[in-house]
Amino acid sequence: MAQLAVVGAGYVGLVTAACLAEIGHQVTCIEVDEGRLCRLRAGDLPIREPGLSQLVSKHTLDGNLRFTGEYAGIAAAGFVFIAVPTPSSKDGSADTSYVLQAVDSLIPHARPGSVIVIKSTVPVGTADKIAGLASILAAGMEVVSNPEFLRQGTAVQDFMAPDRVVIGASSPHEAARVADLYAALEAPIVAVDRRSAELAKYAANALLATRISFMNEISHIAAAVHADVDDVARIVGLDRRIGPAFLKAGLGWGGSCFPKDVLALSSVAANNGCRTPILQAVYEVNELQRELAAELLMDAVRAIRDPVVAILGLAFKPNTDDVRGSPALGIAQRLLAEGVIVRAHDPFALVNANRVLPGVDCRPDPYSALEGADALLLATEWEEYSALDWVLVRETMRGKTVLDGRNALNGVFLGELGFRYWSFGRATQNNGNGLAPKVHANGVTPHADENGASPKVHRNGVFPKMDMNGVVPKVHANGTHPSIREAGV
Ligand code: UGA
Repeated sequence: MAQLAVVGAGYVGLVTAACLAEIGHQVTCIEVDEGRLCRLRAGDLPIREPGLSQLVSKHTLDGNLRFTGEYAGIAAAGFVFIAVPTPSSKDGSADTSYVLQAVDSLIPHARPGSVIVIKSTVPVGTADKIAGLASILAAGMEVVSNPEFLRQGTAVQDFMAPDRVVIGASSPHEAARVADLYAALEAPIVAVDRRSAELAKYAANALLATRISFMNEISHIAAAVHADVDDVARIVGLDRRIGPAFLKAGLGWGGSCFPKDVLALSSVAANNGCRTPILQAVYEVNELQRELAAELLMDAVRAIRDPVVAILGLAFKPNTDDVRGSPALGIAQRLLAEGVIVRAHDPFALVNANRVLPGVDCRPDPYSALEGADALLLATEWEEYSALDWVLVRETMRGKTVLDGRNALNGVFLGELGFRYWSFGRATQNNGNGLAPKVHANGVTPHADENGASPKVHRNGVFPKMDMNGVVPKVHANGTHPSIREAGV
């Protein structure tokens, strides 16, 4: 058993603290937000995560997990995990100010020779930078990068049965000390240098986002050539070199991680003179999905007076109440701007959604959201939406358009019931085979020019929607990649 501290009780910090207690450590969790701290102490978790409340109550009771607002609470800890947010700055880079603040605050209380373990997703070089601070050197502290790979909704499970534990350290000895903390888990430990660990975290998220955007692009082609994107994904995913995960076409990726990390990785690249055309395209395709959905819905309701669109699902994915980066909210915002009345339902996320987008009429049950709706967008594939009484839905709605933004509904069945079923590249849709006839008449999206490229995006090689001021100007001025040029290729 080791004495540990975790700074930050958000998604990552709270799950990390509770799971470290579960694998046998004594954990003090520092939370400086008073409201959050009070809730935690009262056993009222500020986040929803399957299995988390059980772990928190078990280990607050057995004394292996405690919460405090004071950094003095880390005094006994041999390892201090930093799990504070690194939000996107205006230029797309990750803002590390909370991490640096936490380091500053903990140093006066830290045990000599203790190790700072960075869980937060930070730009490459951050751990090295912290390790080089005079105050850290004076305190004889070590700094180790230990990125998290926790998905919301399965975070406890991901912690307890990880695909790998990554430890970026300056020496095998430091890596081994941190690896020992995870001895109770059956997982491969990958010990590397700090920068590789930091980059690996970004690369993993960016590659997952890439797979989704790639299949979303394939969904446009599938629609245009009358193929079925779900079948294509299944076949492609059966290739063991590829695997089936993260190939589901639809409205695209959201959440607090993929959007931020794709931008931050581009920013890291730009700051180091590297071009990121793939990342830009990945981001662009993701935006395109939302634009297409909003356009389609507008096409369906434009001619109607006081049009109503119902959105089922507001969370960025099922089994969470998190609406950050949610495609549903992006689309709702566009519809509201066009004067559409937007009614919505989500099993968990109504409160959070209402806070962000008060213009959306949030309803406590799906049928109430569907009342008098001219079109329906399924934006989050909550299981309960597949089990809706679709005859009742038909009677409840005013119109017949269903846009299945997650390719999750039974399109054939809905077609038989008289719905106009649209999806992202599924052969089951009954209004032709394309996402929208207008979109796919010539096999290209409305954003594409006659060469099939999106002029908006590719004319100058940067993606204007990405808030990436100053992205690789050095590279784009002459259009070449410095590392390639330098290699003389
Ligand atoms: C993601 C990563 O999966 C975690 O490994 C990582 O630790 C975490 O970010 C983080 O950096 O903290 P998360 O944001 O919880 O986890 O969400 P995912 O389950 O990865 O889903 C992201 C988005 O992709 C969702 O909007 C989901 O609907 C979408 N998605 C996922 C698709 O559109 N298609 C798919 O096939 C899979």
